[in-house]
Amino acid sequence: MVVAPSPGAGHDPSWFTPRAVSCAALRRNVENTSYFEQLGGEAGLRAVIDRFIDRVFDDVMIGFFFARASRARVKEKEYELAARHLGADIPYTGRPLDEAHGRHPIMGGQFMRRLKILEEVLIEAGAPEAVRRHWLAHDESQRHLVTRDAGGRCDPNVAAARARAAREGKLS
Ligand code: HEM
Repeated sequence: MVVAPSPGAGHDPSWFTPRAVSCAALRRNVENTSYFEQLGGEAGLRAVIDRFIDRVFDDVMIGFFFARASRARVKEKEYELAARHLGADIPYTGRPLDEAHGRHPIMGGQFMRRLKILEEVLIEAGAPEAVRRHWLAHDESQRHLVTRDAGGRCDPNVAAARARAAREGKLS
């Protein structure tokens, strides 16, 4: 991430002049680094994942899905997955997404709730817009592995029927 020094006592104003750093140089700087690096590398991404997964686990709308899940494990696997699609050379050692989510009757609205939390956490962390767009689009593209519900809202009747089917082991 490119951070401008804040003006203050002893600050050298020449930093802002075209001679010191041109727009082209700034753009190159951003374009030549991976999204992973733009987020601050391992430390930056782990901080984002920590906040994101804590919010997901504690969320009033979708937190109940994680009642029996390990917070530490989900953080680690989400870290690996995100690091990889953000451009780091890190292997993903978790279960395939369809396998991990298959027994959870996740609805379209609940899928969108997780995405909304992710967006809020990325904004709060000051993630560059390109990184935010990429990550949200990536997760959106994995939707078919997490839910078969094409809608973006929660239909309480369908949700209840799916929850019943899941309890009875009849979820298709
Ligand atoms: C594209 C969106 C999503 C991605 C990339 C994703 C990613 C992951 C990953 C990497 C894991 C860990 C897998 C493992 O333990 O090996 C996981 C687990 C889990 N996810 Fe997601 N997830 C997504 C959407 C959702 C949504 C929308 C919900 C619920 C609203 C959800 C609920 C869960 C639950 C409950 C687990 C624990 C599974 C278990 O141990 O039974 N996920 N997810």
